[in-house]
Amino acid sequence: MSKIILAIESSCDETSIAILKDDELIANVTSTQIAIHQKYGGVMPEIASRLHVENIGIVLKEALDTAKINLEDVSAIAVTSGPGLIGSLHVGLQCAKTIALAYHKPLIPVHHLSGHIYANEFVKPLKFPLLAIVVSGGNTELVVMKKHLDFKIIGETTDDAIGEAFDKVARVVGLPYPGGVSIDRLAKQGKPRYHLPRPLDDHSYQYSYSGLKTAVINLCHQLKQKNEPVIVEDLACSFQKTAIDLLLDKALPAVDEFNIKQVVLAGGVSANSYLREQIVSRLSDRKDVEVVIPPLWCTTDNAAMIAKVGSYLYEQNIFAPLTLSANPSWKLEDFRRF
Ligand code: KG4
Repeated sequence: MSKIILAIESSCDETSIAILKDDELIANVTSTQIAIHQKYGGVMPEIASRLHVENIGIVLKEALDTAKINLEDVSAIAVTSGPGLIGSLHVGLQCAKTIALAYHKPLIPVHHLSGHIYANEFVKPLKFPLLAIVVSGGNTELVVMKKHLDFKIIGETTDDAIGEAFDKVARVVGLPYPGGVSIDRLAKQGKPRYHLPRPLDDHSYQYSYSGLKTAVINLCHQLKQKNEPVIVEDLACSFQKTAIDLLLDKALPAVDEFNIKQVVLAGGVSANSYLREQIVSRLSDRKDVEVVIPPLWCTTDNAAMIAKVGSYLYEQNIFAPLTLSANPSWKLEDFRRF
């Protein structure tokens, strides 16, 4: 009998439902709220939860219609139960719990960041020991995996996430949300002419992106005071180069330290073209290390990646009771505790 995982993702501003039949993705429907949050320059949590409520039924129907199945056919319901915005998480969770209760299906709690890592399985099977460079609007983490569902965080940001820094820098120079996309596009036309600091530039796996963001803000103020124009393309290029070079300079020594066989990118910032190009070129002479980059459709939040993890958790009978709550600050290493 086929294993059919129906997965729900609603941790931030995307309402997404996917259906994975054995290894085949037979539906992945996502409704994004970006256009609405753009007006506010960032995600408004209360609006996000209300829109999830409006959209989730429609997304569910479309996913079932696309997959041509009924809820009775499903083996289990996987759902992102953290981390993320509490109100947003609750909508997906209530939907999942309702289906699980009404159709007597097991409920699988999935950690959002594990989903971003497993998104790479849509390209290639994960190979261990693996280094995942997890970079999103809320996280900057280096994760080592020795086997499936075994996550060890070897380093993380001590303040802002790298995506948050992209978004804030973009806002300062008047670029639209999500800032990473705008900066990436403009950086291609610029030169790295502005000198920016490299906070926490040591041999640890810890990061600090708040200082870099502040340096950009200060630079803009100084130029304004001197009546000098900010060359936005050059600023975008300088910031992006500093942020990504720092990320990789500090992450890649882990390849030798942990005898890594595969390096994967994960999270929204993994869409960054300079990061994608740099990771490949920096590891090009390492024939012993495979680099996997998630497809662009899988860098933003989606339920397909949640279904992938859900499928592994299903094999290990990792199910949650219907009393499961959303955990907005769930640590990846605690993913078995819910
Ligand atoms: O993973 P994600 O969709 O949401 C979180 O869970 O945080 O990541 C969103 C983040 C935003 O900060 C956005 O600016 C950033 O990913 N991002 C990018 C690019 N595309 C999205 N950052 C740099 N370059 C990009 N091309």
